[in-house]
Amino acid sequence: MSLPTDLTVARTRTELAAARAALEGPVAVVMTMGALHAGHARLIEEARRRAPSVLVTIFLNPLQFGAGEDLARYPRTLDDDLRLAAAAGADVVFAPAPDVVYPDGDPGVRVAAGPLGTVLEGASRPGHFDGVLTVVAKLLHLTRADLALFGQKDAQQLLLVRRMVRDLDLGVDVVAVPTVREDDGLAMSSRNRYLTPFDREVALVLQRALRAGAAAAGEGPSAVRRAARDVLLAEPAARVDYLALVDPHDLADVPEHHRGEALLAVAARVGSTRLIDNVPLVVGRPLD
Ligand SMILES: Nc1ncnc2c1ncn2[C@@H]1O[C@H](COP(=O)(O)OP(=O)(O)O)[C@@H](O)[C@H]1O
Ligand SMILES: [Mg+2]
Repeated sequence: MSLPTDLTVARTRTELAAARAALEGPVAVVMTMGALHAGHARLIEEARRRAPSVLVTIFLNPLQFGAGEDLARYPRTLDDDLRLAAAAGADVVFAPAPDVVYPDGDPGVRVAAGPLGTVLEGASRPGHFDGVLTVVAKLLHLTRADLALFGQKDAQQLLLVRRMVRDLDLGVDVVAVPTVREDDGLAMSSRNRYLTPFDREVALVLQRALRAGAAAAGEGPSAVRRAARDVLLAEPAARVDYLALVDPHDLADVPEHHRGEALLAVAARVGSTRLIDNVPLVVGRPLD
């Protein structure tokens, strides 16, 4: 099948600058690592609703992968990605090679995610969020975007991007998009392509655990944690990395007396694949 003709694909900084200059502002950016799925499509569609011009980046950022992670086997499906991006409403796709983004190799200067980058995902993946924020900052500058959309599935990433934009005065609007799920509840992810049919069944335990936790929200934090943990323990084929009920603003574990907003987040290894998911909750009885 031929590639969409109404889409501009930029591979170099020069091509990006030319494509960007032709866009009517405001410009919305959706940043991805490729292997696009319906979650990415939702972000692009939401961008389309909010801005006259939509730019999608497809860049598998080596800086955010640790040694022994899945960078080498990460799915690369550029032709399909371009079709999906165009169908969802992208005007421009910027798909640079690593040496376009990092012409001097490993950047000596990086954004430091700080304390929020060391908990949850950051505890399991040291340096991950420094790598994420560094590339997000670079792509914001390169695209000169006015707004940027991020998925709630990566709640910690979303929070850190918001913090970076505030702490470094980057002057871009950050928009959160709710998690898009398969019909059976599995959060869409490029990494779902790694799952064997057996793993795919096992992976549903994340969503079941989050639902069980959410159903216990009226009874307080320990009930939420217990309900979710019990579901996870019943599926030994999922190796849990963390299960946490945290304050969505600072990612601190919520104390037992906590009432109000919280985030129930889980990460687990299923087969050779590491999966994450989360659900926002309101803990305690709503005020009447
Ligand atoms: N299921 C989903 N629902 C909503 N947004 C998503 C979903 N999956 C990924 N995203 C968002 O798409 C953007 C790019 O994520 P990326 O790492 O490329 O995909 P994935 O996490 O699926 O591997 C991020 O902002 C991420 O939060
Ligand atoms: Mg991802």
